[in-house]
Amino acid sequence: MDKNISFTLKVWRQNGPTAEGHFDSFEMKEISGGTSFLEMLDILNEQLIEDNKEPFVFDHDCREGICGMCSLYINGHPHGLAQGATTCQLYMRRFNDGDVITVEPWRSAAFPIIKDCMVDRSAFDKIIAAGGYTTVRTGQAQDANNILISKQNADEAMDCASCIGCGACVAACKNGSAMLFLSSKVSQLALLPQGRPEAARRAKNMIAKMEELGFGNCTNTRACEAECPKNESIANIARLNREYICAKLAD
Ligand code: SF4
Ligand code: SF4
Ligand code: FES
Repeated sequence: MDKNISFTLKVWRQNGPTAEGHFDSFEMKEISGGTSFLEMLDILNEQLIEDNKEPFVFDHDCREGICGMCSLYINGHPHGLAQGATTCQLYMRRFNDGDVITVEPWRSAAFPIIKDCMVDRSAFDKIIAAGGYTTVRTGQAQDANNILISKQNADEAMDCASCIGCGACVAACKNGSAMLFLSSKVSQLALLPQGRPEAARRAKNMIAKMEELGFGNCTNTRACEAECPKNESIANIARLNREYICAKLAD
């Protein structure tokens, strides 16, 4: 049976991308350990609405670790301290009575704040639009079985495809680099024969778009890998670098 906990919640409030921000503090009382982090924020907002105050703005959609929308920096970690979990999969039993819980938005020049802790991650959509797709005709369902793919490549491609585009890697990176996201998206296609015809163009165009959008470079600190809720590996970044160098040499 989960215990109830009481704690101080500090949340970042900011009216827009260029407005000055500040922390608001709230005393949260007797919250069950079985409450999810987002449900706890719902309780806060119900209190604020009852008091005729403006609700706290944060992003969410699926609430089951699929959509990548719940982008909160909790006590200094993207998605909080739980390994391999998104903010919506974080439960209050992870915290202790009397804790101070600090909630901030992703902080990256490429993810401007819309309001409070909701950020604009459309830069990721632009990177995908620059090459994160295939234009080959895939045919009917049975045609997929005509191209043999090794089990190892199929498994690795599936692991890379589990990236949900949440942006925690960018938030964790001291350089604000999107390399873990980008390399996962490039790898999921580069590992499969259907992704090879456009592989060189894809790597060059997606990296060029990432740089144009203001993301930083990778200096191999592995912070992104440690914080990724889907356990994406920086081996993907090495693969992307190989794809990019080969494409440049071919030029
Ligand atoms: S690589 Fe991980 S942290 Fe980065 S966007 Fe994908 S799932 Fe999120
Ligand atoms: S390995 Fe380090 S520097 Fe490179 S993208 Fe990840 S966090 Fe950033
Ligand atoms: S709300 Fe969809 S992953 Fe958290």
